[in-house]
Amino acid sequence: MLVIPGPASRELGETVARLLNVQAIDVLFKSFPDGESYIRLEGDMKGQDVAIVQTTGPPQDTNLFQLFLMADTARDLGAKKILAVIPYLAYSRQDKRFLSGEAFSIKIVAKLLKNSGVDQLLTVNSVHDPKTLADFPLQARSLSAIPFLAEHFKNRGFDGAFVLAPDEGAKDYATVAAGILNGDYGWRYKERNRYTGAISFRQEEFDVKGKDAIIFDDIISTGGTTVESVKMLKSQGAKRVFSACVHPLLVGDAEKKIIDGGAEEIVGTNCVPSRVSKVSVAPLIAKALLSSWQEA
Ligand code: R5P
Repeated sequence: MLVIPGPASRELGETVARLLNVQAIDVLFKSFPDGESYIRLEGDMKGQDVAIVQTTGPPQDTNLFQLFLMADTARDLGAKKILAVIPYLAYSRQDKRFLSGEAFSIKIVAKLLKNSGVDQLLTVNSVHDPKTLADFPLQARSLSAIPFLAEHFKNRGFDGAFVLAPDEGAKDYATVAAGILNGDYGWRYKERNRYTGAISFRQEEFDVKGKDAIIFDDIISTGGTTVESVKMLKSQGAKRVFSACVHPLLVGDAEKKIIDGGAEEIVGTNCVPSRVSKVSVAPLIAKALLSSWQEA
């Protein structure tokens, strides 16, 4: 078995290979002046099971295309089985046709992965509805990094902190995190306008006066969802508010907005490498790869 650390997840892929004590294949890559991607895999993978680690955060389309190039090339070079580890699976939010005529984006990405030679997919907290992966034309599995984020805070002495899910989709994350942190939890009702993208919240009261509070979400994109919740918790008397997320996309000035809104700190994972990626999902991925290889 081999690991191919893709350009978008080089460090994570190399760490996973080290943890599994397997070879990491070198990937040469560049962009041509017109923007097209070039990929060259350096190594022998004939007859081997290969795991390609490549996240697909911004720039999503480039990262996805590099993944298609790596998978198809690995197949051409004789790889027996290809497992794509895509910590952040781009286009997962468009997991159905919400409005008529819309592209069912994640279904298209799944088809392209299969057609590029991917046999199996492993992702981390990227899909809201488990049915999304069940409907994929290839074997797909989702892992959760929420316990790792909660442990990070527990190790820093945040036992008993209040945990908030900023929307209904994050409710399960809050339940898991609160179980690890031995604290109370709550969740907010959020609505998104499908035409404008604008979000609105129902006003709720939480018992946070004088307490530390941590917001757990899968993605921070523009930061709008998190900022709203930081401000609400502060206005209800929370002592300190922290933000934890699996995928810190942090588009534009999202980080600044969240800190200016009153948060002490943002803690993300390296599913999407960023300044706030303080928690590594390498052990989570290595363990899952090991069990998938042992099952095969
Ligand atoms: C939405 O369903 C997700 O779980 C996140 O809450 C959302 O993607 C965050 O986006 P933003 O940071 O732009 O509010």
